[in-house]
Amino acid sequence: MKEQLAQIRAAAEQAIVKADSVPELDTLRVRFFGKKGELTSVLKQMGGLSAEMRPVIGQLANETREYIESQIEIARARLEEIALTSRLAAEKIDVTIPGTPQPLGHKHPMSIVLDEALSIFVGMGYKVVEGPEVEYDYYNFEALNIPRDHPARDTQDTFYITDNVLLRTQTSSVQIRHMEKNKPPIKIVSPGRVFRSDEIDATHSPLFHQIEGLVVDKGVTMGDLKGTLEVFAKRLYGEQARARFRPHHFQFTEPSAEMDIMCFNCQGKGCRLCKNEGWIEVLGAGLVHPKVLEICGIDPDVYSGFAFGIGLERITMRRYGIKDIRLFYENDLRFLKQFQGVM
Ligand code: PHE
Repeated sequence: MKEQLAQIRAAAEQAIVKADSVPELDTLRVRFFGKKGELTSVLKQMGGLSAEMRPVIGQLANETREYIESQIEIARARLEEIALTSRLAAEKIDVTIPGTPQPLGHKHPMSIVLDEALSIFVGMGYKVVEGPEVEYDYYNFEALNIPRDHPARDTQDTFYITDNVLLRTQTSSVQIRHMEKNKPPIKIVSPGRVFRSDEIDATHSPLFHQIEGLVVDKGVTMGDLKGTLEVFAKRLYGEQARARFRPHHFQFTEPSAEMDIMCFNCQGKGCRLCKNEGWIEVLGAGLVHPKVLEICGIDPDVYSGFAFGIGLERITMRRYGIKDIRLFYENDLRFLKQFQGVM
């Protein structure tokens, strides 16, 4: 039996040296110490030994077991070390390799001009307020002095959700919402999307954008309106920009006007860009109609105000010489990329 144990020890030594993975070591453990393991079967024969020999062989068997176990542990530590080293080498990150470039987006031309317009008004003390795009008939028409069946609705046909709920045709609805909840002095601008059931062409779209302005206080006049909008035009287009006002009609302002900007291309002489007019219309405006103030619970004998609605597409087209409104909505990168780096 002594010999058997010595053989097992030698076989184990060899097998452990050969093993080149941790699972292999586990297999060896079973081979020697398992139920039918080589060492186990030797131990099973101990019953047949004499009383003197039993402790001697028992001691020897224990030593063999401890020896093999310690060898397996040493091998395990070595193999784990090797595995770790090679994993570290494989997962090494070279922080000096240049990264994969991520294309960086930039602002849409209309966002560029919108942000600039808002910052001009904020600089003059205006607060930015927003309102819903899906609107009640009341805020879009009724409270703006445009009753049902009034011909003024004809130019602002829109998309109806129900008889009373529609897609707003103008940001003027925000005037009413704001005056209902706030008393003068009021000084707000309200940018947003508006909708009209217009045919799409180079200058019309069923979806476009406006920036509404509203000022209500004691003693506000047409002079304040003109001064404000002239300053706006010069800040946006430069000191050489010229603005002119033409009489117009809106149901919710009295008097009403439209403002044109002198065509930058022909300096007012008339060219293709301005359709030979020399001027380009950019906004509607006027003094808030007393009836509208009254509807909102503001006394028109004490307060007066002015309002304006700027067409964002128009001022952006004018700013960059863009000739077709559809370019704004088509998401054609060849168009959009031209505004990269423009702030
Ligand atoms: N809401 C008007 C339009 O869309 C523009 C406007 C706004 C006119 C405010 C006067 C005052 O045509």
